[in-house]
Amino acid sequence: MDRRKFMGAVAAGAALTTVAKTGVAETKKAGNLTSSFEGSFYLTKENPGRWAAKAAGHLPVVEVSKVDGKSTVKVTTPHGMHGYEHYIVKHQLFDEKMNLLGETMFDPMKDAPVSSYDVAGYSGVLYVMSVCNKHDVWVSAETV
Ligand SMILES: [Fe+2]
Repeated sequence: MDRRKFMGAVAAGAALTTVAKTGVAETKKAGNLTSSFEGSFYLTKENPGRWAAKAAGHLPVVEVSKVDGKSTVKVTTPHGMHGYEHYIVKHQLFDEKMNLLGETMFDPMKDAPVSSYDVAGYSGVLYVMSVCNKHDVWVSAETV
């Protein structure tokens, strides 16, 4: 390859790298769930580990609403409650320093896996955990 073609190839590669970096920045998500524990000790959308086929029914769905400047967080796990055989055990909500902000235990005989938390006065990343008695611990993150 002559010098001119080589420099053209280098420029094209640099342009592709720039596009790729921009793409990553645009898809940046709330919080940082990445660790050596992700995909085994806890599961995420990006790394559902051995339960990848179960992700849609286990990832906690986080909805933030603000009324008069007060934030409320509603957490739903789109999972059935099949008595004590198979159910969502609990939700937990943590701030970005991993302080526990709220916890809801579910009775599989009468509850739906839905919980709400008042997070007035807090702004930052929230980590939301949902625990299934058969399919482990799932975590989502959201910013309020
Ligand atoms: Fe499950």
